Amino acid sequence: MWIFGRKGASGFSASSTAEDVTQGIDATALTAIVTGATCGIGFETTRVLALHGVHVVMAVRNTERGKEVKESIVNEIPTAKVDVMELDLSSLASVRKFAAEFVSSSLPLNILINNAGVMAPPFTLSEDKIELQFATNHLGHFLLTQLLLETMKNTSQEQNKEGRIVNVSSEGHRFAYKGMFFDQLNDESSYNPIYAYGQSKLANILHANELTKQFKESGLNLTANALHPGSIATNLLRYHSIINGVIEWVGKYFLKNISQGAATTCYVALHPQVKGVSGEYFMDSNIAQPNSYAKDAELAKELWDISLTMVAP
Ligand SMILES: NC(=O)c1ccc[n+]([C@@H]2O[C@H](COP(=O)([O-])OP(=O)(O)OC[C@H]3O[C@@H](n4cnc5c(N)ncnc54)[C@H](OP(=O)(O)O)[C@@H]3O)[C@@H](O)[C@H]2O)c1
Repeated sequence: MWIFGRKGASGFSASSTAEDVTQGIDATALTAIVTGATCGIGFETTRVLALHGVHVVMAVRNTERGKEVKESIVNEIPTAKVDVMELDLSSLASVRKFAAEFVSSSLPLNILINNAGVMAPPFTLSEDKIELQFATNHLGHFLLTQLLLETMKNTSQEQNKEGRIVNVSSEGHRFAYKGMFFDQLNDESSYNPIYAYGQSKLANILHANELTKQFKESGLNLTANALHPGSIATNLLRYHSIINGVIEWVGKYFLKNISQGAATTCYVALHPQVKGVSGEYFMDSNIAQPNSYAKDAELAKELWDISLTMVAP
């Protein structure tokens, strides 16, 4: 049960569900990619987008699980258009392979939802020798977005429709090291799992802000926003089984449920109120204020340049 139901300017609140915030929206002409769609927020986002007619490509690392999820959605919504494609965001090679396959499918792309994430694992380097949270939560999504931008631009021009990029960040961005620790991104001795998670989530907001700046400069009909979905008992705390158990236990009383947890993502992806809005941070389906690092345009540009260098083949 969610107890905080005060409505914001949008008319929605923390207790609104993904179905509430998308009521009456016909999105049958749209195509979306949702990363990390096998469970949690990504699963519910996929289900609700499909309910409104969006053709959803589930970008998942576990395709067997992805197919089971697709089957459950199609069983519930026989008209659902859902595909499953393999994507491991912690691997730059996998991101390139996914993007190449998507582009060669000639599908349009109206909405890109960068949702997948890992939280607070023990220090781990990805196959590209990049700290796992930065690699998965930010860098993989950064490269994915870069490689799909041309398709999004073309789709928005051909269909004369706004394209939307939605980065699922977190209030955890407030726990980042002081700003971004660019010099110590892959340094085990200074690694703190929570601060590193916060840093990767800060990067999600900075990424959306720098994209916004570039879209405005080039006059593109694309937007990029970031959001905090709320606190929801999902598999995100899988690396911390005791805390996870406690959260699951108390979560049903104090946290959002999954349908409330996917609301802000679905709102930012589909709602007409968000048309033309870019570079904002949303929470509870309303515009909110991130911290000062997240609003720092120079930091956003620095992150952009460093990310470009890191993904260079
Ligand atoms: N839950 C919360 O309270 C909360 C709060 C703030 C922000 N968020 C954000 O919300 C987003 C979704 O989290 P959630 O709560 O729904 O967690 P979740 O249930 O653990 O879902 C995370 C998803 O990301 C996928 N994933 C992880 N690593 C991946 C990789 N290398 N490549 C591709 N997919 C990968 C997982 O796939 P597998 O099934 O294969 O592991 C899963 O589908 C995350 O970005 C998280 O930071 C959540």
